[in-house]
Amino acid sequence: QDLQACNTLGLPARAPVAVLEDESAIPALCEALAAGGRAEAPLFVLGGGSNLVIEARPRHRVLRVALRGIRLWEETAGHWIVEAAAGESWHGFVAHCLSRGWPGLENLALIPGTVGAAPVQNIGAYGLELDQRLHSVVAWDLRAGGERTLRPDECGFAYRDSLFRRDGAGRWLIVRVRFALPKAWTPRLDYPDLRDHPGLRGAGGASGAGGPAHEAAATMPTPRQVFDAVCDIRRRKLPDPAVLANAGSFFKNPVVDADQADRLQRQFPALRTYPQADGRVKLAAGWLIEQAGWKGRRLGPVGMHERQALVLVNHGGARAADVQALARAVRADVRKRFGVGLEQEPVVLD
Ligand code: EPU
Repeated sequence: QDLQACNTLGLPARAPVAVLEDESAIPALCEALAAGGRAEAPLFVLGGGSNLVIEARPRHRVLRVALRGIRLWEETAGHWIVEAAAGESWHGFVAHCLSRGWPGLENLALIPGTVGAAPVQNIGAYGLELDQRLHSVVAWDLRAGGERTLRPDECGFAYRDSLFRRDGAGRWLIVRVRFALPKAWTPRLDYPDLRDHPGLRGAGGASGAGGPAHEAAATMPTPRQVFDAVCDIRRRKLPDPAVLANAGSFFKNPVVDADQADRLQRQFPALRTYPQADGRVKLAAGWLIEQAGWKGRRLGPVGMHERQALVLVNHGGARAADVQALARAVRADVRKRFGVGLEQEPVVLD
């Protein structure tokens, strides 16, 4: 099957693809996998393909998860526990929750991909990461057989990382994801771009500057206003994969120790830094890449985006090797200039 339309970087690829539309088909799938043993090619679970670099002829067998359904799973005194099937569109799910009066995910609006892929890289944006709202992940253990419910502390979450990407890769087939959405909703406006957004200013968004607390409360923005502001920021900054093929941020923001951050800050006063809870410091990779001269620059059919240097785009006709060549060049230049290594964010289907 042609997979070019199944990866938002638009890379050409062909592989046999099985489609999972019904959970009842999973036990038979597990049996087939067990029967195949090691001789069979390993399995790759494909969601929306929005965080993926795909080789032309992957050795993996591909399973596309098309499970659908969203429901209120449980209501507690403090939370709505909402469950969505892995094949649901992430943005569609966020919008659905909002329309049902279950806010809490609006900072993660417009992130491409599926619900099932969201915990894999612990998606995050505008001051919120998925693990902060996660209730549990229901997944099939393809190795041991059987369904398991994993609590957040069992998922090994970190920045853009989880158990499902590391030692658990190929083991877990995520079928449903549950979120605990607090009934006592308050906006998350820590991220400067969001706090300063015109749609939220005057709605309490910029009230951190002072003003009586009751005033700030009276003008607290609505979940819908936060949702709209996030969509607006993303649309202005990030290329729409339907228009210009890309896989979102191509590198993680690197985290360095405090000493290295201090040295870099002295040498480059404009460096963007985000202190972490553990004392280390996260650096804005987009800034590093821009300073290394790669913003808007191309190498063959690929390039780094002109408005967000962290996003690698396919201007048309690229293959995986073109992507890798550009990634290597950008990495080398950032390392040469700043002594900082960049780690790739999208997973590789080879
Ligand atoms: N910057 C530059 N030049 C650039 C790009 C960014 O100087 O070309 C600077 C910005 O001015 C800003 C800082 O870098 O001061 C951070 O930029 P931005 O707010 O655009 O966010 P980011 O750190 O580049 C991360 C996530 C995004 C997420 C945004 C918003 C990663 C790898 N990326 O990007 O996630 O939407 O924050 O929270 O953590 C993704 O993972 O695919 C993704 C898009």
